Amino acid sequence: MALLPILQYPDPRLHKVARAVTQVNDETRRLVRDMAETMYAAPGIGLAATQVDVHLRVIVMDISETHDDLKVFINPELQAQSGEEEGEEGCLSVPGIYEKVRRAARVTVRALNQQGEPFTLQADGLLAVCIQHETDHLQGHVFVEHLSHLKQSRIRAKLKKQRRETL
Ligand code: NI
Repeated sequence: MALLPILQYPDPRLHKVARAVTQVNDETRRLVRDMAETMYAAPGIGLAATQVDVHLRVIVMDISETHDDLKVFINPELQAQSGEEEGEEGCLSVPGIYEKVRRAARVTVRALNQQGEPFTLQADGLLAVCIQHETDHLQGHVFVEHLSHLKQSRIRAKLKKQRRETL
């Protein structure tokens, strides 16, 4: 197991589009384990492979309070979306920034599990938000891109300042 470095916005590698996993094998499962370990250590509730500079369609997530309900999505595809909801989001690639984003309230996602078996999941609430946030990452999108250009440039300035101060 290994902790993986998390790319920090506005790193251009966060805008790469992830490829589908062609075969779920031991290498995929090792990536999943390392991503889960990285997410729990951060700590965070979701992580897309894009964020650790691996451009494959793999997501890990755990929204439980007890951190014992790991969800793994390999090659996730949103099948249906409905409703609309606005909620505050954060991201391990955009530390310290929390902003309201409008998204679908309910989603249906189809993906493969770690054994390569397909499953379908219907989600609402925080899980639905998380699935949309993480699948966005796989398309090369960071949540702040849902905000106005003015807000985005303020966020970039703030992050730059934060990084200067921690050096
Ligand atoms: Ni994120």
